[in-house]
Amino acid sequence: MLPFKTLIVIDRNSRQPLYLQIANRFVGLIREGVLKPGLLLPSSRVLALQLELHRKTIVAAYEELVSQDWVTAIPRKGIMVASNLPVIRPRSFQTPSSPYGQGPAFSFGSIPTVALSRHETAPPGQLIINDGFPDVREAPLEAWVKESRAIIQSPRYHQLLTYGTPAGSNALRRQLIGYLTNTRGLSITPDNLMVTRGAQMAIYLAAAMLIKKGDYVIVGSPNYFFADLCFEQLGARLLRVPVDEDGIDVEAIEQLCRKHKVRMLYVVPHHHHPTTVTLSAERRMKLLHIIRTYRLAVLEDDYDFDFHYSSAPILPLASGDHGGNVIYVGSFTKSLGLSVRIGFMVAPAAFLAETARLRQLMDLRGDNLSEETLAALLADGTIERHLKKSGRLYHERRDQLAHLLRMKLGNKVQFTEPAGGMAIWVTFDPRFPLSVISGKAAAMGLRITGGEHYFYGTTPANALRFGFASLNHKELNKAVGILEKITVSFAGNSENIKFDTKKDQWKN
Ligand SMILES: Cc1ncc(COP(=O)(O)O)c(C=O)c1O
Repeated sequence: MLPFKTLIVIDRNSRQPLYLQIANRFVGLIREGVLKPGLLLPSSRVLALQLELHRKTIVAAYEELVSQDWVTAIPRKGIMVASNLPVIRPRSFQTPSSPYGQGPAFSFGSIPTVALSRHETAPPGQLIINDGFPDVREAPLEAWVKESRAIIQSPRYHQLLTYGTPAGSNALRRQLIGYLTNTRGLSITPDNLMVTRGAQMAIYLAAAMLIKKGDYVIVGSPNYFFADLCFEQLGARLLRVPVDEDGIDVEAIEQLCRKHKVRMLYVVPHHHHPTTVTLSAERRMKLLHIIRTYRLAVLEDDYDFDFHYSSAPILPLASGDHGGNVIYVGSFTKSLGLSVRIGFMVAPAAFLAETARLRQLMDLRGDNLSEETLAALLADGTIERHLKKSGRLYHERRDQLAHLLRMKLGNKVQFTEPAGGMAIWVTFDPRFPLSVISGKAAAMGLRITGGEHYFYGTTPANALRFGFASLNHKELNKAVGILEKITVSFAGNSENIKFDTKKDQWKN
């Protein structure tokens, strides 16, 4: 039913009788085409309830409309907008003449972005090589739904329907403390922890609290493009530091700290994005020293910590001796599914208290029901079991993809098996440009990015993240098989070309 309470506005101070105001408003709505010929109007009882008026007033309004032939009274059916009205062209809410069909008269900012072919959804029957997303077919959705239902049915649910704290559900924060202590060796209290909508919100909030226009921010080269865009949007000047097979170059970081007043360093030490490399233990120790020496604010992004395949995970900088300078962000979106928007930020209490106020300005608080559901699944061990199970599965898939790439693409590609995460960083021989491969692959039922967005602000290379976690055995086989066919059909061969691991590029 149309929102008559909003459509029919009554002026109680007007001298015009109420029933006439209503009748005139109906005429207006019919003329504007909002109420179309043949539409059955609500009964006088229902409309009286909606408008909080006496039913007799509505009856009088309808009688007025009948007498003017705008509506017809149909026995046993009700009041209907007359179907033979003169010169009325019904219009929908979204016609070209809609006020929103035109551009606004006011000016507004423009937000830089990158073109993301990876976000396309593949039509049925087609495959998509994504950036490194989880396999949502494996997500513990049954447990999630069951737990959500139990919470909704519990007597305490009405408490969850209020706003609550912007730092997130207390139950979830309690659970997270246990989880982060056990898995990452963090030593924190509840006021060091804030629940966010994914790691991305945490990155934005932390950066917005630190960065002022013109500030220097150090990032890897290449780096996670949405972090770069976010810092630049806030006015940062990015200082790019090379990333090699041992992770970000910490000597270069130190040189920059000597030269500039650096506001912040952004790092992804566990599995750097996009190249997936892990920061070596030696560099990690050196970086902690730099952080303490220069009192450098560090934003440590550990968005895919839960997936590591070679022995124990590397502990984050946040669990080391950093003198309170590391803001640590993580996420459950990669373990549960990308649209379960729950992440977290760990930081000194005073910083988090202010950050919570900033969050309140854009999002009063997160989603209570999801946060409580996650808390319950952490408490009963579902998340731990799921992470173990999917970790084993993704480990197998990483190995399978590495095997397939070697077997089917051989020296046309170069890669190092990542110690964890959900993607392999694959560099193609320049004679097989990804921009061309992606076009040919699409025609063969495989969506694959041309890879340009990974090099936002840096020198482009012929490389991409090949997400393996969301593709099963058969799908991986098919995807690499298509790439094999495409590359075989290319002219020339790549025998004289060699890969320089240090520089992460091909050389003749
Ligand atoms: C390096 C990196 N950080 C943060 C994020 C954001 O993750 P979330 O989905 O938790 O917001 C992503 C997303 O892919 C990412 O790749």
